[in-house]
Amino acid sequence: MFVVTGATGRTGRAVVDELLRNGREVRALGRSARTLEQLRAAGADTAVAEPTDRSALGRAFRGAEGVYLMIQPNYIPDSQDFPAHQARIVEAMVAGLSSAGVRRVVTLSSWGADKESGTGPVVGLHRLEQRVNRLNVSTTHLRAGYFMENLIGQVEHIRAHGVIAAPFDGRSQCRSSPPRTSDAQRLNTSSRRHRLAPAGRRSSSCRASATSA
Ligand SMILES: NC(=O)c1ccc[n+]([C@@H]2O[C@H](COP(=O)([O-])OP(=O)(O)OC[C@H]3O[C@@H](n4cnc5c(N)ncnc54)[C@H](OP(=O)(O)O)[C@@H]3O)[C@@H](O)[C@H]2O)c1
Repeated sequence: MFVVTGATGRTGRAVVDELLRNGREVRALGRSARTLEQLRAAGADTAVAEPTDRSALGRAFRGAEGVYLMIQPNYIPDSQDFPAHQARIVEAMVAGLSSAGVRRVVTLSSWGADKESGTGPVVGLHRLEQRVNRLNVSTTHLRAGYFMENLIGQVEHIRAHGVIAAPFDGRSQCRSSPPRTSDAQRLNTSSRRHRLAPAGRRSSSCRASATSA
C-alpha cells in the first residue's frame, strides 16, 4: 500500500490516479473526508490528517510500502511565517515516517533544494530533503523547477501584453521546459532505482531532476 500526501491536489491526485491505474493499493491523505470522497469513490483508501499532526500522520503512514511526501502550499501572503509553516510540516511528516517505520519515500522537492539559503520558499524543501535523508529510508527527491500550471494565473497578463512576467534573473542563461504537475506522477512511479511503484507503460518526458539518497 502506498500513501499519498496532498492527495486532493494537483500532483497528489495525479500520483493517486497513476498508482490505481497500475493496480496498487493507495491511501490518500487530506484534511477533510468531504474533499477526499472523490478519491475514495475512485478506489483509494482515505485518511484525514492535518499536515502538522505527527500522531495522525504516523497512523496514516503505518503499513505503507512507500510514501509520496509534499509540503502543502500556504503561500507567503497567506502565512505570517512561511518558513515556520514549512518547518512544522517537515518535522511532523518526518516524525510520522519514523514512527510508522516507512522504508521508501518520494518527496516533491524543487530546483535549488541543494542550497541551504538564499532560495526563498525552497529553503523549506532543502530542509525536507535533509531531514528525510537522515532517516534510514530509500529516498527519491523530485527537484521540479517550475510547473506549466503556474502560468494559468498569468493568462490575462500574457493575453494583454504578450509577455510572461516571472521573477527570474534576466541575465541567466537557464532554459526550462516546465513539466505539467501530472508529470510528477510518472517520475514517481517510474524512477528506476527508488521507484514508489512499478512503472506503467509510459515513460517520463519530465525534465525535473530526481536525486536519490
Ligand atoms: N509551483 C512550482 O513551480 C513548484 C516547483 C517545485 C516544487 N513545488 C512544490 O509543489 C507544491 C505544490 O504541489 P501541488 O500543486 O500538488 O499542491 P496543491 O495542489 O496546490 O495542494 C495540495 C493539497 O494541499 C492542501 N492544502 C492547500 N492549502 C493548504 C494549507 N494552507 N494548509 C494545509 N494544506 C493545504 C490541499 O489538500 P486538502 O485540502 O485535501 O488537505 C491541497 O489539495 C509546493 O508547495 C512546492 O513545495 C512547486
